Amino acid sequence: MKFKFEPIKKDYSDFSSDKLLVNAPRTPAFPVRVASEIMARSLSFLDTAEGLTLYDPCCGGGHLLTILGFCYSKNLKNIYGSDIDSKALEYAQKNLNLLTPEGLSKKKQALQYNYEKQGEKAQLEALNSADRLETQLLNTTYPKKDVQCFNWDITKEQPPHLKNVNIVMTDLPYGNMAYWQGEGAVQNNPNKQMLNNIYQTLDLHNSIVTIICNKDEKINHQKFEQVKRLKHGKRQFVFLRPLPFY
Ligand SMILES: C[S@@+](CC[C@H](N)C(=O)[O-])C[C@H]1O[C@@H](n2cnc3c(N)ncnc32)[C@H](O)[C@@H]1O
Repeated sequence: MKFKFEPIKKDYSDFSSDKLLVNAPRTPAFPVRVASEIMARSLSFLDTAEGLTLYDPCCGGGHLLTILGFCYSKNLKNIYGSDIDSKALEYAQKNLNLLTPEGLSKKKQALQYNYEKQGEKAQLEALNSADRLETQLLNTTYPKKDVQCFNWDITKEQPPHLKNVNIVMTDLPYGNMAYWQGEGAVQNNPNKQMLNNIYQTLDLHNSIVTIICNKDEKINHQKFEQVKRLKHGKRQFVFLRPLPFY
């Protein structure tokens, strides 16, 4: 994949897991430059890119969702994540809290308190990161976003309660770190069931579904057309547009 929207490698250390974000076990941190490139490409398939709702149905510890929430704060009004693993969701909640003015301010107060007590350089660096991310978060039409995560098996025969979602971006379970669980894993059709459910959450006139998965996986569904497919290392990114009158 060519980096079309993120041509220059920036310093992404504000997102390191030793600073503000936490990493759930078995969910490795998603590379920030790749996440940002894929999101920019996803936005390019939409008619309008403002006031958007973003949803990750396999959000794990919410690392990917949180990065996107900061980097694309100006485009996003609502940010939702769900996962079958309630333990991972505890981490997701901590990360997603950072995307609200109150949550980030609380985190900054805790960092400040620790720094005043212990005076460590790493604590000061985390505080500086928090200041930079706060500017990124608040400098937007929607500083107060609706940010939620909840427990859901995205492969069961029932969609989650969400409506009018514009961007679904999700990093599927693959490889050694995470496996499909739930009804779809038992019936051996997790991708089909997931896409059936996602379809029902979408704004069918302005939405894109971006699936991140192992490059050998086949991703297709009768209710979607594939508009782009990119490969990067062991991953592929599949961009699907819903067919509005299916
Ligand atoms: C590659 S990880 C996602 C990591 C996430 N992007 C992050 O930033 O932390 C895949 C996730 O899919 C979840 N998963 C597996 N089966 C699922 C199902 N049936 N419904 C929802 N989530 C599922 C796993 O619990 C795991 O958290």
